[in-house]
Amino acid sequence: MSTTFTPSLTHENRIQHAGLRQKVMDANAAAALVAPGAVLGVSGFTGSGYPKALPQALARRIEAERAAGREFDVGVWTGASTAPELDGALASAMRQRLPYQSDPTVRRQINAGAINYIDMHLSHVAPMVQAGFLGALDIAVIEVAGILPDGRLVPTTSVGNNQAWLDSAKHVILEVNQWQSVALEGMHDIYRIALPPARQPIPLTAPGQCIGEPYLRCAPEKIIAIIETDATDRNSPFKAPDADSQRIAGHIIEFFQNEVRQARLPANLLPLQSGVGNIANAVLAGLNESHFEGMSAYTEVLQDGMLRMIESGALSFASATALSLSPEATAFFNQNIEKFRGRVLLRPQDVSNHPEIIRRLGVLAMNAMIEADMYGNVNSTHVMGSAMMNGIGGSGDFARNAYISMFMSPSTAKGGAISCIVPMVSHTDHTEHDVQVLVTEQGLADLRGLAPVQRARLIIEKCAHPDYRDALRDYLNDAQKTANGQHTPHIMGESLAWHRRFLQTGSMK
Ligand code: COA
Repeated sequence: MSTTFTPSLTHENRIQHAGLRQKVMDANAAAALVAPGAVLGVSGFTGSGYPKALPQALARRIEAERAAGREFDVGVWTGASTAPELDGALASAMRQRLPYQSDPTVRRQINAGAINYIDMHLSHVAPMVQAGFLGALDIAVIEVAGILPDGRLVPTTSVGNNQAWLDSAKHVILEVNQWQSVALEGMHDIYRIALPPARQPIPLTAPGQCIGEPYLRCAPEKIIAIIETDATDRNSPFKAPDADSQRIAGHIIEFFQNEVRQARLPANLLPLQSGVGNIANAVLAGLNESHFEGMSAYTEVLQDGMLRMIESGALSFASATALSLSPEATAFFNQNIEKFRGRVLLRPQDVSNHPEIIRRLGVLAMNAMIEADMYGNVNSTHVMGSAMMNGIGGSGDFARNAYISMFMSPSTAKGGAISCIVPMVSHTDHTEHDVQVLVTEQGLADLRGLAPVQRARLIIEKCAHPDYRDALRDYLNDAQKTANGQHTPHIMGESLAWHRRFLQTGSMK
């Protein structure tokens, strides 16, 4: 990627299209343009690049309409999770939500049955919307850093599904955020994937390659309102890596070192993908301190850990769909943005998470999980089989298509009352076929080339907490004696007994 780029946007002149300047209005006036029942395609991917004003104004309007006895709800489609000013504000106004969230109020509403939540692979969303599988999209609400004289839009700290929303929606509301750095211009690569039968191979063969253009495009006549804002992105700070996360990171680094020694991976590894959350961030911190150099990332979100790896030189390039940085890392990025030009590229999420590219590049996928069973099936989403946590996000896009797919978790949760290695998962997001390596603080189970019972023995010995190992061994031995088949032995009446015990007594023990 070229590091010489001359931005057109200036901090003082963000709306350079003369006609569109006439469409500036305040958030309340723009919210009045949203009809009851509308489906909104909103920007935002983690706490980055989401609209900061319209959702809150709309929430106030919906509250007032409902107080006056008029029904009003909306469907909300995003890139992924967002922040309190969007998901939190609209939680009680949502009829439908997709494809991923992590907001406590939205989660409560989903689990109370009040929001129809459609938990989707993130790479599926844009093509499904464009094909019309999900119905009509009424209004795209997109945060941008600015508008060029010819109407091209400068994206912000996330790309997500923005181009798909702009292409598919009947109308568009833009938020032009003064806080977003004008120097972001040129750090995006917007590429459109056609629907079949016109679809062609995606010509991307390296994480740093540009295949599109740095701007979003939208027909100016679709734009019905522009709101000017000046508000920060809001991502939660990361916890300092705890002892368990550091041990998990240590096991993964040792595994990579051995793969290099065995000539199964090159010395600078293959492009890394790292999931969301504190454990993923701790693994990145560990990799930053390891001897690996010249690494690259083809990932979904760029967290603090990756930013530090770029700064230290351990990571030469990171491709993602969003920055997902703590407030401190955001400030550092904005102050030093030119250092990252040519080292960071943000793409639409149907490209960042595309199976074709993940397979081609040989991505090393590292994602967190809620629980795994002794055969290696993984639950990333549902607590005790029923309650939604966040959603599958991009974990399935990467796990199914990675060169090596790893899932990681502490071996227990809730102070030891829950074993994260169980006889049978209470919900399956990733089948045993998509899981090659399982890691807990106890150790790492390399499942490649093993049959189910061999996998089970290794997972129990390497990953389960010592408090639960005997019970898992007993279950497997009993299953081998009594099951109706020996390939993947289970006792049907007991396979979920651990979860039942937790729900009844508050402990799996
Ligand atoms: N049963 C019940 N609760 C469990 C559990 C289990 N087996 N394992 C973990 N938990 C709880 C933890 O106690 C914690 O609860 P708290 O918020 O009340 O403290 C919560 O789940 C989060 O666990 P934590 O260990 O802090 O992990 P995390 O922040 O790394 O999140 C996932 C783990 C799986 C929830 C998260 O990674 C996720 O949503 N993944 C799916 C999407 C994804 O992988 N995206 C990346 C693709 S690019």
